[in-house]
Amino acid sequence: MKIQDLVKKELLPIKRPVHGGQGWKFPGVEDFSHNLNPYGPPAELPRLVTEAMEQLVHYPDDTAAEFREAVAKLHNVQAQNVIAGAGSAELIRLYPEVFLSRKARVIIPRPTFSEYSHACRMQGANIMDAPLIEGEGFRLDLNAIREKLPLARALYICNPNNPTGTVEPKRRIMELVDECEAAGKLVFLDETLLDLVDGHDSLSCMSEVRGHSNLFIISSLTKSFAIPGLRVGYGVGSEEVVSMMDRARLSWNMGAIEQYVGTRLVSDHQDHVRRAAEMMSSERNRIKKAVDHIGLFSPLPDQCFFFFTRVNDPKLTAKDIVEHLLPRKVLVRDCSTFGRPFEKFVRFSVKTPEKNDLLISAMEETAREIRSTAFGARMHV
Ligand SMILES: Cc1ncc(COP(=O)(O)O)c(C=O)c1O
Repeated sequence: MKIQDLVKKELLPIKRPVHGGQGWKFPGVEDFSHNLNPYGPPAELPRLVTEAMEQLVHYPDDTAAEFREAVAKLHNVQAQNVIAGAGSAELIRLYPEVFLSRKARVIIPRPTFSEYSHACRMQGANIMDAPLIEGEGFRLDLNAIREKLPLARALYICNPNNPTGTVEPKRRIMELVDECEAAGKLVFLDETLLDLVDGHDSLSCMSEVRGHSNLFIISSLTKSFAIPGLRVGYGVGSEEVVSMMDRARLSWNMGAIEQYVGTRLVSDHQDHVRRAAEMMSSERNRIKKAVDHIGLFSPLPDQCFFFFTRVNDPKLTAKDIVEHLLPRKVLVRDCSTFGRPFEKFVRFSVKTPEKNDLLISAMEETAREIRSTAFGARMHV
């Protein structure tokens, strides 16, 4: 028997998405390839997890009522506008299960987080590419999107975008949401990385879901509270969208520890996130100045708490840079998994001042080493 003959046809060409944040495989190495709150989780986390332990003998609340209430309060919406997820990743998977049938078309700007196209392809949907404009700091190409919109059922936007770190103003996104609504199209907006951007309150579109039936926004506690090992995510959307998604949601999708800890963190610890966002905003400027001066990469963008940049030397790839930095106890993300031409791009995040010093000196040493090698000697660093 050939299992391949029995499997869903859509699945055969699909490969698992590849992600950063693999630093735990390299003990003693500082992992700049992930984009988590550099302060780590709040100090209360172990106590909260311990308090939640006694609930493990019951099934969790299938409706995650308390957690959804806390999220609703945070974003000034109603609990009916909120769906809980085992990380925002679960909701990325659920959305096309609910809204996309075979051959439906979606617009996914490129490069972006790989889980969207993976989840859409699983439903047999077709992806329409709308490349971000590199010359404009990887901004959305509104003309390309508008051109493709008539054929699409949904538009995906990631703000800030992973991996490029581009932050789109709220006004620009809401313009697209309005246009999509008028044309009967859905918008899936990912704000998972937004909480760690300084001034995120004025950038978030969460409170707009009340007036826009086509809008669904995901976020999670993973990055803002540095808890990737707990799966705490949520979606905020119009009541219509959320209720349809809730029909298809896996029962007990959010565990009891996640619900308890998630509720407490959302309700009582927003300051922890705000402090990190402010610190990273000033550290970002310091890193940009130093790394631009070193000259290994094209000038760093300065919008976000992580940087996406091209390796300057035409003979070097991102993989080469990773290999130079690793012995110096620094891991950055090789972005070749985003496809061509991103084999020349790396991504690294802002951390605490001490760790950022390590990053800067590792890059200085790398530049010196490359310059001193025979073929590096011709490089303009
Ligand atoms: C842009 C973006 N969205 C969503 C996720 C999924 O994260 P989680 O499931 O932990 O919320 C990630 C993880 O890297 C991400 O970068």
